[in-house]
Amino acid sequence: MNTQHWINHFEANTRLNHELRLPETPCELPDQTREAFARSIAIFQLGESGGGTRLRRYTRSIASLENLKGYQRAVDLFVAEEQSHAALLARTVGHLRGTLLKKQWTNSIFRWMRDLVNLEFNIQVLLTAELIAEVYFGLLSLRCSDPVVQTVAKKLLRDEMGHLSFQRDFLFERLKTLIPAMQRLWRWQFQAIHFVTAAVVAWDHRDCLRALNVSPADFRARAVRCWQSFQSRLERRLGESETHARQELASTSGYNRSSSAAMQSPVS
Ligand SMILES: [Fe+2]
Ligand SMILES: [Fe+2]
Repeated sequence: MNTQHWINHFEANTRLNHELRLPETPCELPDQTREAFARSIAIFQLGESGGGTRLRRYTRSIASLENLKGYQRAVDLFVAEEQSHAALLARTVGHLRGTLLKKQWTNSIFRWMRDLVNLEFNIQVLLTAELIAEVYFGLLSLRCSDPVVQTVAKKLLRDEMGHLSFQRDFLFERLKTLIPAMQRLWRWQFQAIHFVTAAVVAWDHRDCLRALNVSPADFRARAVRCWQSFQSRLERRLGESETHARQELASTSGYNRSSSAAMQSPVS
């Protein structure tokens, strides 16, 4: 994994979030819409505000792997970027005259799930949230008329797309070590967890989605398309890597055969 690329990326990009200037116009949305956005964005704000303690603990367990050198540093910077998202979303909730949350049930389930298995599963649950965030911030940036919400949603959408690539790079490194049957099993459970999560989020954020003129079914369909796009890119890379490994093996065994034939020829 090219961890140095991600270290450079996060170092440059997170700074932009700290410096991002938001329009200074007051919120002019009707009260009902404003409140629906404020509540919904406050839930995402809580989700972004974790300190990454468990994730950092897990990354220590793979710190010695040669192909993941520098991953710990990249994860530290990734967590810092998520915290910069929490700060931007807190400013947005303030702009919408909403209240920040300390606890919320979907967020508690997410946190509980992330600690269930191992680092790969932790990343997968995080990734599930990021795939949902891609749809959510995409819709906010396109359909919310408030300029502050639009500005923040656009920036977060771009960042989350970067996070999806970061997680894909990591999962590629881990999944390529699994046999195809295990890769299929991983795909199945990832798809199932993503599907259930999208349904729960669509229901929990239904007032906000209604204000954006998006039905829960439409939100779920968009979420499924994002998952398919992510998964097909990952599978393409895994397929290419397997073909490459097979070709290398074939050329090595071909070389071994020809070299042993060359060694035998003087004798025969
Ligand atoms: Fe984020
Ligand atoms: Fe993210």
